[in-house]
Amino acid sequence: MKLSVTSAGIEKIAADLLVLPFTRALLEKDAEKSLKELGFDPGVLKDFKGDAGESVVLYGSGKKIAAQRVALLGLGDGKNLDDWRKASIALGSKALDMQVARLCVDFVQIAVIAESFGYAPLQLSSLFLQGCLAGSYRFDRLKSGKLDKADKKKSSKKTKEIAELILKAGKDIAGLVEKGAAEGMVVGSSRNGARELVNLPGNLLEAEDIAKAAKESGKKHGFDVTVFNRKEIQALGMGGLLSVNKGSFHPPTFTILDYKPRTKAKKVVVLVGKGVTFDSGGISLKPAEGMGEMKSDMSGAACVIGALEAAARLALPVQVIGVIPATDNMPSGTAMKPGDVITTYSGITVEVGNTDAEGRLILADALSYAVEKFKPDVVIDFATLTGACIVALGYSVAGLFSNDDRLAGEIAEAGDLSGEKVWRMPLWDLYAEQIKSDVADVSNTGGRGAGSVTAAKFLEKFIAGHEHWAHIDIAGPAFGTKNTGKTSGGTGFGVGLVVELLKKWS
Ligand code: BES
Ligand code: MN
Ligand code: ZN
Repeated sequence: MKLSVTSAGIEKIAADLLVLPFTRALLEKDAEKSLKELGFDPGVLKDFKGDAGESVVLYGSGKKIAAQRVALLGLGDGKNLDDWRKASIALGSKALDMQVARLCVDFVQIAVIAESFGYAPLQLSSLFLQGCLAGSYRFDRLKSGKLDKADKKKSSKKTKEIAELILKAGKDIAGLVEKGAAEGMVVGSSRNGARELVNLPGNLLEAEDIAKAAKESGKKHGFDVTVFNRKEIQALGMGGLLSVNKGSFHPPTFTILDYKPRTKAKKVVVLVGKGVTFDSGGISLKPAEGMGEMKSDMSGAACVIGALEAAARLALPVQVIGVIPATDNMPSGTAMKPGDVITTYSGITVEVGNTDAEGRLILADALSYAVEKFKPDVVIDFATLTGACIVALGYSVAGLFSNDDRLAGEIAEAGDLSGEKVWRMPLWDLYAEQIKSDVADVSNTGGRGAGSVTAAKFLEKFIAGHEHWAHIDIAGPAFGTKNTGKTSGGTGFGVGLVVELLKKWS
């Protein structure tokens, strides 16, 4: 998507769709006048309430305007960032469905609206761009079009993206709008990149493909990527990753992404992402219903790749190191079994109570390795770790676990700003009782109660006492299905949150 900002007269902008966004307050005040000026019948306002995401398209202006058609877009009361997100996502989706190649949005009022609610025009511009990109993303690369009816053949020629977005803004704020929009473009496209990886099924995205995706992104956006293969992982003694991989036909990978800013880094941040390319459960096999969704069990890894990509493209002054242990989790004659005891990279031994609690085993190695090797200021892991977290918080909110109150607060705030919401859960030591093992140092299962907390307590054992660690369980918000009431498929959850967090530390 090409981006431009213009101060030209609204009637002169040649676009396939010209969008006039209105908060409910501005709708009352200005809409009738605006419509008349552009030559439209204001009668449409009887049916348009300005709810966030509501839109109506108008054709056949009585006046000479360069735009092909005009749409009103509701921003709700414009007070909540969520309203802006909802509106811009709805617009992106609608514009793509309408095959709009050139989209123009009138941002003239943005400074007024932003000021009345204490936002910056830059922030709203970024958010709006992110919404347009999110709404106009489609996962269609696996559709051949071969079965489309002959008369519908032209559908295969459909535009797959909005080619150009023009923002109209007054001269005084055009610079801010442009800067914000450019940032939103980076975050939105990095997030869509993560969604693409999540949406790829297990047969098309093995551990080696995750490593390859990281390499490609690093090459394109300027960060280093190192991949350890099976031999190197064996030499390092990563028993967690190797044990989960035992049942698999495909080798594991351990990928390190390293973005260093040109100026002195204000912090060194490690991001660990769970990269299970398909989680069948292993010998503790999952039920058939919904098992296909487990292609999304590498969403943490996708988030880490997307976040590094965004940090590099925005040239943020923070060193960000991504660490991705990747494998699938499969049953076979060579697979890890319940009751097995394994030795992790740290030397800590683990009794495998359930082979389906595999995420924590590969994260254990990654966390210990990262803390030892990089001595980071902060460690955050992203993982689709437990169904229990979905039971607790649902499909839109991630569970946050941290041993550092200040870090937890910063993450929660970044979550609100990015719309990728997290809710803090406890980490009291009393929960560690549940993961005691009779035969090993710790068990990978903790019984029925508080499943997301016992998983976090397990991870905590592998950070070697690091005092600034957070674990974000994204099992709910990483992936949408028919019953989750949100976009279906990968969401790229976490990319925006990390960007907000890194910006705060910049
Ligand atoms: N990948 C799953 C967690 C998950 C469930 C993610 C649903 C997304 C949607 C994880 O590996 C898992 O299987 N966890 C088990 C742990 C249990 C065996 C202790 C779970 O949550 O049931
Ligand atoms: Mn599992
Ligand atoms: Zn899993």
